[in-house]
Amino acid sequence: MTGRNQTVISEFLLLGLPIESEQQNLFYALFLAMYLTTVLGNLLIIVLICLDSQLHTPMYLFLSNLSFSDLCFSSVTMPKLLQNMQSQDPSIPYAGCLAQMYFFLFFGDLESFLLVAMAYDRYVAICFPLHYTTIMSPKLCLSLVVLSWVLTMFHAMLHTLLMARLCFYADNVILHFFCDMSALLKLSCSDTQVNKSVIFITGGLILIIPFLLIILSYARIVTSIFKFPSGGSVHKAFSTCGSHLSVVSLFYGTVIGLYLCPSTSNSTVKEIVMAMMYTVVTPMLNPFIYSLRNRDMKRALGRVFYKKKILFSL
Ligand SMILES: *[C@@H]1O[C@H](CO)[C@@H](O)[C@H](O)[C@H]1NC(C)=O
Repeated sequence: MTGRNQTVISEFLLLGLPIESEQQNLFYALFLAMYLTTVLGNLLIIVLICLDSQLHTPMYLFLSNLSFSDLCFSSVTMPKLLQNMQSQDPSIPYAGCLAQMYFFLFFGDLESFLLVAMAYDRYVAICFPLHYTTIMSPKLCLSLVVLSWVLTMFHAMLHTLLMARLCFYADNVILHFFCDMSALLKLSCSDTQVNKSVIFITGGLILIIPFLLIILSYARIVTSIFKFPSGGSVHKAFSTCGSHLSVVSLFYGTVIGLYLCPSTSNSTVKEIVMAMMYTVVTPMLNPFIYSLRNRDMKRALGRVFYKKKILFSL
């Protein structure tokens, strides 16, 4: 840190959402309800998969990891947003801001990698149904999950260290509801060219490569379905792909739209609305997309509650 004469800032102000003050309470209630739905929905999926031994298959273990990552992802930004809306004190300490940025990147990337693992799982299930259990061994599943954690840890750390290098003073008002990388870069008084290039390159790699891998596995799935149109097991496996595809398009649609389409004019509101989409709406919808359309999940729910009922009546 430099001397006192430069007034190095020790905290940022998160200006939050561009909402009129009369509507503040309405939006507070809305976001609180959305956050609670996200937490409860994802917790339900994790608990259900953990309790029901029939759901201990690679697909559901990945789904449970995805739910965990969704839960954490929205917990990085939502509690702080809700607190700011209520307390009228929008400040966040410098270290808190960097930590928020780190975990935001961490869980965002983790989600992206887990979606690839899930696509690979569907690809093996449909294209090699007979070798499915040998290929998707518990060891491979665990390795894929651990690899995702390690890669995403390094990526988030890289950006956080690059950000910690920059100087900030005087201007500490963030026009966003969380410590977003691009919003922070706009405030810095140092040269941010390195940061921007690294964001562009790694952002491209971390988004485009998983996206291409998912497209590739679905291309293989579709060709295999057209080759053997009458396999009953293939159809059953394909029916689970619909949910996965919806989640993939929801996630990549918003993220790619935001980071890879350069905003030319003053489009803060657009950025905030898009960020709202993937920090709040996507993690909230994922459990519903997976469980409402999924017969196995519904049956497991029935089994778990039925067991409880028997236990209580004893
Ligand atoms: C994540 O996936 C791994 C490997 O399949 C599994 O062992 C683990 O229980 C999962 N974790 C959660 C929280 O679901």
